[in-house]
Amino acid sequence: MKIAIDGPSGVGKSTLAKEIAMKFNLLYLDTGAMYRTVAYYFLKYNLDYNLENKDELEKINIDLISRAGRDIKVFLNGEDVSQFIREKKVAEVASVLAKYKSVRNKMDLLQKKIAREKKNIIMDGRDIGSNIMPDADLKFYLDADIIIRTKRRMKDLNLNLEDKIAFDEIYKKISERDYNDLNRKFNPLKRVAEAIFIDTSNMTFAQVKQQVFDIIECKLKNG
Ligand code: DC
Repeated sequence: MKIAIDGPSGVGKSTLAKEIAMKFNLLYLDTGAMYRTVAYYFLKYNLDYNLENKDELEKINIDLISRAGRDIKVFLNGEDVSQFIREKKVAEVASVLAKYKSVRNKMDLLQKKIAREKKNIIMDGRDIGSNIMPDADLKFYLDADIIIRTKRRMKDLNLNLEDKIAFDEIYKKISERDYNDLNRKFNPLKRVAEAIFIDTSNMTFAQVKQQVFDIIECKLKNG
């Protein structure tokens, strides 16, 4: 069983993907973590991420370890960077770097190789159903209103929902990332026709999970 989950930032793809992986015994690959690792490298060595830099990319070696029900472990040239790649600045830079053809090519090669080698896998990202695993058995596209995504992010960060300054700042960051995802030339965020679309705006996480589990169970039963 190969499953693709795509959708914008902050829609809950990775939390859901981890739960699916646990329940159905699949390998979970968080492709965003790989883009974040490239971003971390650029930040670590103070490189200009507003320019495409193919030479530096050649120096980047990424290794991944998937762990049941937990975040993926990521190694950059042997260094465990799993914690660092979750920082705000890294997410911002990843969103910029993800537009360069050379970066996407590097990620494509790695991700497509893993997709070919593994029979039971779930990947989440932006171009999984459209580009990395066009042959996936099931494709999901998750979406939610940007205001809802902003509030969910605030809750995750334990921020007061009435804090207008914090709201505006997070809203702005998410809209920038949406803009970058939707408008890049190479493999933008795409909802392919065959993907099952779930608007999670008015759903609890438990409801989304139940709906997705039911669909996967049905697919496993009926092929
Ligand atoms: O899902 P995430 O927030 O961890 O992803 C980090 C960035 O990587 C995101 O801004 C867009 C980019 N990305 C991408 O372009 N293609 C993917 N398949 C996954 C992530």
